Amino acid sequence: MTKKPFGTLPQKDLLTVAQLGPGDVETIFGATTAIKSDRAAYSEALRGKRLAMIFEKDSLRTRFTFDVGMQDLGGSAVFMDHRDVRLGSRESLKDMARNLERWVDGIVARVFKQRALEEIAANCNIPVINGLSDHVHPCQALSDFFTLTERWGNVKGRRLVYVGDGNNTCHSLLHVAARLGAHITVCSPEGYEPNARVVSEAMLMARESGSDIQITNDPELAVKGADAVYTDVWASMGQEDEIEERSSIFNDYRVDEEMMALAKPDALFMHCLPAHRGQEVTAGVIDGPNSIVYDIAENRLHVQKAILVLLMGDKR
Ligand code: CP
Ligand code: NVA
Repeated sequence: MTKKPFGTLPQKDLLTVAQLGPGDVETIFGATTAIKSDRAAYSEALRGKRLAMIFEKDSLRTRFTFDVGMQDLGGSAVFMDHRDVRLGSRESLKDMARNLERWVDGIVARVFKQRALEEIAANCNIPVINGLSDHVHPCQALSDFFTLTERWGNVKGRRLVYVGDGNNTCHSLLHVAARLGAHITVCSPEGYEPNARVVSEAMLMARESGSDIQITNDPELAVKGADAVYTDVWASMGQEDEIEERSSIFNDYRVDEEMMALAKPDALFMHCLPAHRGQEVTAGVIDGPNSIVYDIAENRLHVQKAILVLLMGDKR
């Protein structure tokens, strides 16, 4: 079967949601719904196309979903991890990018530095997709909000409360919420708030979409009336030596049953995974009836297939 048409994205790359214009997230979600509801119809959408997957850090979900996603679309993926590649050490990122564009049709990269992604993208004519960096995790947040859209029909006017480290995942959640008109509160310990530039980017988008954005250090106040509560690890990949220090700083920011009781009665629990039960979330919450963590993980596949088709498919 041949693919059915849907909208296009004007961008070459997806390095951050801040690059997406108004309507682009909806385009991705529309394509996701089409692809998710009829897998066979898109089985030739990327026939013969190849994706390079360059990972400087560990991964389960991102790696599998991009690889399986390419296979579902009729293409293939080649994986290179941190044991094979130390970005920029054997040769310049520019040379790497210029080689890769001769062999493959797209690149997904998980990197320590957002700057590395930008340099790769600037030096090749093929799409580059961010599979997580120190700065943002766009595919994750798009999948999170796609899952909420499936649940609620519309996220506009609903409030997501993110409790924990103002990290890469949090930054992309701010961007997507602000684009879609969802309200978002970020609640972190002092000194671990989201990056000020990301908050300004989100505030700017919020002016158009009507999102209300709150940044606070008080978990009780933050979670009151939440429609969904989200958390992520207290120490991200690359911050392993801070685990002990962070464990005491973040102790009041654990999402437990008591905290969830402050949110709306049917409030959803979200986490990008991997999770540490007993640290940022209790087992009772993540394994409880309102947790949607595996639905989100499933949707990583569908959302990324949409992104792959929109960026690597034939442009109409
Ligand atoms: N959530 C997420 O990106 O998972 P991985 O680190 O396993 O890819
Ligand atoms: N913030 C986490 C997300 C993992 C998917 C990290 O960067 O390790």
